[in-house]
Amino acid sequence: MRGIAVIVVLVGFFFLVNWWMLSNLQDGGGNLRGKDRVVLNRTVRSVPGVRSKFPKGKKAQRVMYGRLLALASHALAEGVNKPEPKDLWMEPVNHRSRWTPCADQFNWKASEGNNGYIVVSANGGINQQRVAICNAVAVARLLNATLVLPNFLYSSVWKDESQFGDIYQEEHFVNYLKADIRIVKELPEELQSLDLEAIGSLVTDEEIMKEAKPSFYLKNILPILLQNRVVRFLGFGNRLAFDPIPAQLQFFIQKLRCRCNFHALQFVPKIQETGALLVQRIRQHTARSWLIDHNLFGPFTVESKAKREKDIRKDASRYLALHLRFEIDMAAHSMCYFGGGEKEREELKAYRAIHFPALALLENTTKLPSPEFLRSEGRCPLTPEEAVLTIAALGFNRGTHIYLAGSHIYGGNSRMAALTRLYPNLVTKENLLSPSEIGPFMNFSSQLAALDFIGCAAADVFAMTDSGSQFASLVSGYRMYYGVGKLPTIRPNQRRLADIFSRNATIGWKVLELRVRKTVKEYKLAHVRPIARSIYRHPRCQQCMCKLD
Ligand SMILES: *[C@@H]1O[C@H](CO)[C@@H](O)[C@H](O)[C@H]1NC(C)=O
Ligand SMILES: *[C@@H]1O[C@H](CO)[C@@H](O)[C@H](O)[C@H]1NC(C)=O
Ligand SMILES: *[C@@H]1O[C@H](CO)[C@@H](O)[C@H](O)[C@H]1NC(C)=O
Ligand SMILES: *[C@@H]1O[C@H](CO)[C@@H](O)[C@H](O)[C@H]1NC(C)=O
Repeated sequence: MRGIAVIVVLVGFFFLVNWWMLSNLQDGGGNLRGKDRVVLNRTVRSVPGVRSKFPKGKKAQRVMYGRLLALASHALAEGVNKPEPKDLWMEPVNHRSRWTPCADQFNWKASEGNNGYIVVSANGGINQQRVAICNAVAVARLLNATLVLPNFLYSSVWKDESQFGDIYQEEHFVNYLKADIRIVKELPEELQSLDLEAIGSLVTDEEIMKEAKPSFYLKNILPILLQNRVVRFLGFGNRLAFDPIPAQLQFFIQKLRCRCNFHALQFVPKIQETGALLVQRIRQHTARSWLIDHNLFGPFTVESKAKREKDIRKDASRYLALHLRFEIDMAAHSMCYFGGGEKEREELKAYRAIHFPALALLENTTKLPSPEFLRSEGRCPLTPEEAVLTIAALGFNRGTHIYLAGSHIYGGNSRMAALTRLYPNLVTKENLLSPSEIGPFMNFSSQLAALDFIGCAAADVFAMTDSGSQFASLVSGYRMYYGVGKLPTIRPNQRRLADIFSRNATIGWKVLELRVRKTVKEYKLAHVRPIARSIYRHPRCQQCMCKLD
């Protein structure tokens, strides 16, 4: 009895550490750089059949699920002339709730911002920054403060010096939110020379708990603001709660977050234009001109000539965007095993020793849950092989155009072989854009991530392999907001998929198809925002969208 309790506590502790570190993992759509990452380069189309660079570690299982992949390949070859399942490219219909975006329609008196100035220095990748900015907008209104245009901290992971104005349109941001709060480009001169740390106006994210309640800001931050006229938040990732928020504040705090995330933050023309070009090429120059296009491409939107939306929808130019979150940091951090033999174990262990020292220490000193246990618990990121099996089981035919986001896949081209072999029409931003088109973005991981954001947000179907990823979460929220029920997102239930794939030695393709379709269908349905969940991910709620009857 005692032993079991100890194990339960240890496993619980492990998950806690795991969760904590995962939430600190920089996630920006997979544009991490590092010498360990293999760039999936412009030759992605020509790699099928490349042999693994992983040597034969003892009994190394180079390709996971060899048998299943063969079955999938066979099914796809047979399915060339078969129609795809009817609801494959659609969101499940929920007749009782139709929602449209309406955070833009709002009339109230703008806060004058007389209590002082808030400066936000956001950390992390582009997605974390986006959440920080919109939370800061809500906090500025809460405290009747003037917001200084946010700036971004340089991160040694991202190595990107882009500032707000390199990614988002400053004028639009200031003007759009004029109706809500006052925003200035810089601190007034008399405040610029202050030593903020010395006067107690520097607030780091260690001093604010995650998802802090509004009352925390009123009680702890407002007095500093009133006394010093300025507060600088250093970090500020995810520092404002989604729930519970007192009823009288609930409406405006959530509304402001939506106005900021879905309306005020517009990519700069350079990103809009290249994003439009990218998507036009995947769509083979067939225009859609949906709401989301206008939002993403601005003046670069190509208007559709098709009379009816139905005509566009059955067009062969539609595409699936796949966010493959399988970089080495993710693989190492998960503590799972991905079939790469002893070489893989050593490689990931070495990576942990450098980048996740706390986890490495735990690994040495404690008996941690086994990779098999983690897999069965749904704790392992989907591998490219599992992703391709899922897509094939759902019924996407071999000709499907796939836009792949996230480019430093662990294991490189050999790990991608199954995907490129089964779905030859696979493209990335690197091979859709010419070197001179993508060149200006190359040294800026955040701007590259913005292009991936556009490629995924505008897709007819978006599929993710890790439901905890902030990139995937923001993209799916965007699609929910602007997609008016027509832009489905496929989220894996990793635990159930692991159970299905664990029967890899015996399961038949038909049964696998049925089971995968069933689990995906349940998770495809767009829900009203569940309590305490992110409004950026789940905008379906009355502060953000309007329900049509
Ligand atoms: C902000 O201004 C509003 C309206 O003038 C007022 O009701 C509210 O109490 C003020 N809040 C703070 C924190 O000053
Ligand atoms: C874990 O153990 C290995 C070998 O025993 C050692 O090289 C490494 O430094 C240890 N790591 C930590 C974090 O203690
Ligand atoms: C990117 O940065 C590297 C080194 O910092 C530099 O040599 C290269 O010219 C830059 N490339 C572009 C396209 O700016
Ligand atoms: C099933 O998967 C496991 C884990 O990847 C692997 O060890 C086993 O060989 C696979 N079996 C078949 C028949 O592919």
